[in-house]
Order: sequence, then C-alpha cells, then structure tokens
Amino acid sequence: MKIAILGAMREEIEPILEHFGKYSEEKYARNSFYTTKYAGHDIVLAYSKIGKVASAMSATILFERYGADILLFTGVAGALDESLKIGDIIIASKCVQHDAELEAFGHPLGFIPESDHYTLTDPVLNSLAKKVAAELDLELLEGIIASGDQFIAGNEKKMWIKQQFAAAACEMEGASVGQVCAFYAKPFFLLRAISDTASGDAGVLFDEFLESSAKIGAQFLIKMIEKI
Ligand code: ADE
Repeated sequence: MKIAILGAMREEIEPILEHFGKYSEEKYARNSFYTTKYAGHDIVLAYSKIGKVASAMSATILFERYGADILLFTGVAGALDESLKIGDIIIASKCVQHDAELEAFGHPLGFIPESDHYTLTDPVLNSLAKKVAAELDLELLEGIIASGDQFIAGNEKKMWIKQQFAAAACEMEGASVGQVCAFYAKPFFLLRAISDTASGDAGVLFDEFLESSAKIGAQFLIKMIEKI
C-alpha cells in the first residue's frame, strides 16, 4: 500500500521526516515530495503550504503522480469546542468548507454543487486512531472540522463557524484535501492537534505552540502508520 502523508506547513511534516531518517526528495510544481519506506509501506510525504488551493493541489499530485492509495493529513488547528485545550488531538468525522457561500442560489452555507456538503473521513482509519489513542492512554476527540482560507482569531467569527457548522475545530486545508480524496474515492484521514483558541489571542498562541502541537500530531500519525 502506498500511503500519502500531507501537512500544510514544514513544522507539521518535519518531525515525521526526522523520524524516518532516510528519504528521497523530488521537487515538483514548486514543492518537495519525499518518498521512503516505513513499516512495510511505501510512503510519500509533502507539506502543501497554507490554504485550500495549495493543499488540494498537493493532494491531487499525491494521487496522480505518486499513486497514493490513502491520504493521511496531520497538522494543527484552532479550537472551537470548549473541551479542546492546546496540545489535544482531534480527528475529523467529517469536514466542511466554512467559507463556501452560494446562498444566492438557495444552497446552505458550505455547500458546493456536485460535491459533498460535509466530506466524510474513512471509518476504518478513524477506528484505528481510536485504538492507538487507547493504547497510548490519550484522549481523542472526534468531531467536525471546518476549513477556510482564513486564520480565525476572534470570538465572533469563531462562534459563527462553531454554530453554523457544529464544528469542533477550524483550520485551512482539511476540507479541500477531503474533497480531492472524495473525488478520487480514496480513504481520507484528518488529524489535528490544537495550537490555539481561534480567539483574539490565536496569533500569539499559534506562534508559541505551532511546533509543539505539530509534533504531537506527527508522533500520533507515526504510531498509526505502524499499525496500518
Ligand atoms: N490553524 C491553526 N489555528 C488556526 C486558526 N485559528 N484558524 C485557522 N487555521 C488554523
């Protein structure tokens, strides 16, 4: 099986590359794609750069150029659910684009015609994540993750996303990558470790906790790959 691992930022992927130690790098489309073997699997890794466009493009390349069979996303997110604290891990049951708005045509917020309103993640990979969490004695929340091309750093927008989409966390890539996976009918897994509150202090918290939270997500993903 060929496993694609995708993050948005260098910090989200670097701990995994460091853990693998040996890998090849190919530069393509202003990005780097890293290939290696780990736990009996062919692996291809990349960080896309921030946002829905770059992440959708990287996901497409991972399927079209590298022949990935499944895609695992890891990175950080802002907390919407009150129970989520910095460093906690959430997996997406499904994800939605909170900045998709075609209400003029009678569509609900987040809905894009001929796409899924909420993109489902893979139940088998989600079950595996819960098993890994239990083994590590880690609490794992499963919930809706909302994505958009906006860094959320204010209570008004935070509460709006939370209420409109029943979302537990917000970030900037999950739902676009999920859309690509759905179009290719490939299993999709979306993991985020909380880096900030998505409130007024989110920028400062993000800068402080990006690296440590990204590492928590990356380490969890490595454990998962060892069990696939
Ligand atoms: N990724 C991490 N924190 C975020 C936030 N507050 N808004 C959007 N994406 C994020």
